[in-house]
Amino acid sequence: MRKNVLAADLVACGTLAFPQSGPTVDQRVDDLLKQMTTEEKIGQLSQLFDFGDPKPIEAEVAKGHLGSLLFVTDPAVINRFQHMAVEQTRLHIPLIFGFDVIHGFRTIFPVPIAMAASWDPAGALKAQTIAAREARAVGIHWAFAPMLDIARDPRWGRMVEGAGEDPYLGAAMAAAQVRGFQGEAIGSPEHLLATMKHFAGYGAAEGGRDYDASYISEAQLRNVYLPPFEAAVKAGVGSVMSAYMDLNDVPATGNRWLMHDVLRDEWKFQGFVVSDANAVKSLVTHGFAKDERDATVRALNAGVDMEMAIGATAYSTNLAAALKAGDVTLKQIEDADRNILAMKFRMGLFEHPYVDEAAAAKTLATPEHRTAARVAAERSAVLLRNEGGLLPLKKGAYSKIAVVGPLADSQVDTLGSWAFQEDLTETVTVMAGLRTNAITEGRVTYAQGVQISRKFPSFFDEIFKLKQPAPWNSKHETDEFNKAASLARASDLTILVLGEAQNMSGEAASRDSLSLPGRQEELMKAVTALGKPVVLVLMNGRPLDLRFAADRVPAILEVWYPGTQGGTAVANLLSGEAVPGGKLPFTWPRSEGQIPINYSHNTTQAPEEQGKRYWAEESTPLYPFGFGLSYSKFSFSNLKVAGRIVTAQVENTGTVAADEVAQLYIHQKYGGASRPVRELKGFERVTHAPHERKTVGFEVKDDDLKYWSAAKKAWVLESSMFDVWVGADSTATLAGSFSN
Ligand code: NOJ
Repeated sequence: MRKNVLAADLVACGTLAFPQSGPTVDQRVDDLLKQMTTEEKIGQLSQLFDFGDPKPIEAEVAKGHLGSLLFVTDPAVINRFQHMAVEQTRLHIPLIFGFDVIHGFRTIFPVPIAMAASWDPAGALKAQTIAAREARAVGIHWAFAPMLDIARDPRWGRMVEGAGEDPYLGAAMAAAQVRGFQGEAIGSPEHLLATMKHFAGYGAAEGGRDYDASYISEAQLRNVYLPPFEAAVKAGVGSVMSAYMDLNDVPATGNRWLMHDVLRDEWKFQGFVVSDANAVKSLVTHGFAKDERDATVRALNAGVDMEMAIGATAYSTNLAAALKAGDVTLKQIEDADRNILAMKFRMGLFEHPYVDEAAAAKTLATPEHRTAARVAAERSAVLLRNEGGLLPLKKGAYSKIAVVGPLADSQVDTLGSWAFQEDLTETVTVMAGLRTNAITEGRVTYAQGVQISRKFPSFFDEIFKLKQPAPWNSKHETDEFNKAASLARASDLTILVLGEAQNMSGEAASRDSLSLPGRQEELMKAVTALGKPVVLVLMNGRPLDLRFAADRVPAILEVWYPGTQGGTAVANLLSGEAVPGGKLPFTWPRSEGQIPINYSHNTTQAPEEQGKRYWAEESTPLYPFGFGLSYSKFSFSNLKVAGRIVTAQVENTGTVAADEVAQLYIHQKYGGASRPVRELKGFERVTHAPHERKTVGFEVKDDDLKYWSAAKKAWVLESSMFDVWVGADSTATLAGSFSN
């Protein structure tokens, strides 16, 4: 008899999937734990990839010795595994299925850095709600997102997966995404359990080299790297993924201070911790643990409840022996089980273990999901330059338009990294979007011009065998380059679509340079030299060295990797059906030599010389944090500070309805530590009709003024004077002040 699913439990349960009456989740977990053997208890702590031969995995599932699977996306296969777990095991404990639902599932939304560039948490919430709905429709319960790593070194490829450099924007996007994935509460139908990752400090990898060690002072950790994670915990995130790298010489996955002292003791996190893939076994590789058994003991001690691994987990191989030897206690194993089982109960998996295979296809095909992806792509684009009002393209002004570049008609690249379940046939490239746009249709012709590829392939290229076109030989290369140049010469306008291929940013995609890969710069120079109008559309996940374009190409539109409907969105933006309103979520350097460069650096002893730190190049950014233009114009005025309430007027002084993101920055003028020259502490994206004027208001709260003091090893709120600015980016000049 299935003791853990009583008929009485299956009562109407409001909006949540688990019963609201009967025994509490804790009671059910305790009841279950009493019945579990030690092997079953250890089994729940393992999660395996479903790669290759399913037989060994099936054997574990059938014995009740596995807690979770990841990378299973076929609803029939999910049900097959789940039937084994629920019907063939003694205690009928369902598996929880996880997947990297990063920026969509079937409908691919713009990459996370793009969503951050929309400065629109409500949009991010909506996108992850849709991603959850689609993933849940195939039987997935758990997303390994959002990635909350602050990235201040754009050489690091995973900058594309996060919200950029700023803790405040990062925290807002974190909370929104958690709510989008999880819904009102854990267990909401059509939603997923969210995972905040990678805990913590992964974005500070030395040299921007993925997986390299991070060295971050406690003040930097607390003030910069941890706030998005704390915000996710406050938003109720259900799981945490421990990071791969050494944090101040202690691997994050063996770091009890992080996962116990901070996460559980200080933040009162109630969910469970999963390791990143193979990260427990890697404790040996790091030279931290003596062997796999030591790694097992130390990861469990540190707070890793579930181990994610390819092949057997270290936990499944070593925990029984470690327990027998007294290196871990049964209570430790049971505590980890408690965290995991409670989530399985709260997610309603005991009541609803299976997925409706027949219903999945319909959900995945929902047209509104594609519309939402288009709108998200339109809202995330950032207009970096628009000399002479070249954009939006004037109706009838150009009879022949050349569309040129390696990313202009590539579906895979339009989606970005971490897109596995997309339907490529419905992915709209920029070229395809322009072909059907009213302003450009019948006028566009395409030439690729150059080919771009990685020197060292990524393991994703190998695992997922993404179609890599055959490399061109040198004759082919010359021919294609010339063809593109001739096409531009024969046209009235060229739209260059340049940047990085999707596998050039993401995991294992760090770079030592911010240059445009391959011969793209050369192509851009050749096209610009023709003296005709040129629009540069950029697809990338990190800032690039744009010094030539910023000076010579009249219009530059950053569209990131815009997703399934990206091409339609870009065509709408170029033609003016949509107006760019996105803002940079990071400081855009002139070259990689400036890295790190962040807007929230400290005031130095020669602030007036801040732009002249290098003798050969300006040391100011090419584009500041928060920057982005519009097809309209905005002015900020009338700043008022009343106590902690800051208000200002934002006026659309142009003739087009458009969005502006009002941004609030503060600076503590003196105190127990030097504080950043500016810190973002509020923002609001507001739509204005032409000539419309609106008042924006922000309340500066105690939490916005507090900082972690390295000297006091505590959060402090000091008496001081605070400067405040409200404006359109981090160089805003409209200023006031208040005292605290
Ligand atoms: C490794 C990545 O670091 C992590 O972000 C991802 O969720 C897991 N692999 C699972 O694919």
